[in-house]
Amino acid sequence: MRVAPIPREALVTRGTINLVMTKEELKQWFENARDTLEPGYLVNGEPWKQSGMSGSEERWICLRKPVADCIDRSGSFLDIGCANGYLLECCQKWNSLRNIILEPYGIDISPKLVELAKCRLPQYKDNFLVRNAFDWIPPKRFDFVRTELVYVPAKYEKQYIEFLLDNYINPDGKLLVANYVEDHPHPENTILSGSHPTKNILSRLAELGFKATEYKDGFDTVKNRKTRVAVLTR
Ligand SMILES: C[S@@+](CC[C@H](N)C(=O)[O-])C[C@H]1O[C@@H](n2cnc3c(N)ncnc32)[C@H](O)[C@@H]1O
Repeated sequence: MRVAPIPREALVTRGTINLVMTKEELKQWFENARDTLEPGYLVNGEPWKQSGMSGSEERWICLRKPVADCIDRSGSFLDIGCANGYLLECCQKWNSLRNIILEPYGIDISPKLVELAKCRLPQYKDNFLVRNAFDWIPPKRFDFVRTELVYVPAKYEKQYIEFLLDNYINPDGKLLVANYVEDHPHPENTILSGSHPTKNILSRLAELGFKATEYKDGFDTVKNRKTRVAVLTR
């Protein structure tokens, strides 16, 4: 098994997006991510808004169902960055129509969002934790895990994916790497400073040394958005 040493302390090369950051800088980066995202999600209204999506339910389904479509059998499913748990709830519902039964798990860096997820899925409340996937090693592995590359600073994407494959995924499990701004003309306008602006998830994964075994797409023709979810295996 590969060792997954995510560097805690390292050299700082300033002036480039590919910064290797000190432990304190990493801590601040994740706190800034939480503090930037959280207020926009803690709104009343449709449940997908508390998962960071604006617009209609149809839009939510078009742009999130590809996650569910990557799941091809019953098993455990961890959503990294679960927000209010609505994606997990929907994936359970969508996949039950294909006789696929999912046991949902979620982690998020926002305690307030994890509380919302526990309320949304009370029968699974013990499956939701406030954790940072960047450095948390779960006590058990999962059959399916969803994430996005933008959850870590650009320089750490490769180590992050290796870390998840080594520590989160069952031997025959699948890592679903979603890009919700696939083919966007300006992905840099949609992400936090320090994340990599990924236009094409398969190319980005290839640059990092990973080859997806399959992918699923979704389109929102109203706002001209595209989701691509790439599947990696161990
Ligand atoms: C766009 S929402 C995703 C909601 C839902 N899972 C989906 O795919 O539609 C991103 C969530 O990821 C969380 N997040 C960002 N970085 C994270 C990290 N390193 N570890 C855990 N959660 C993270 C944020 O707090 C936010 O709630």
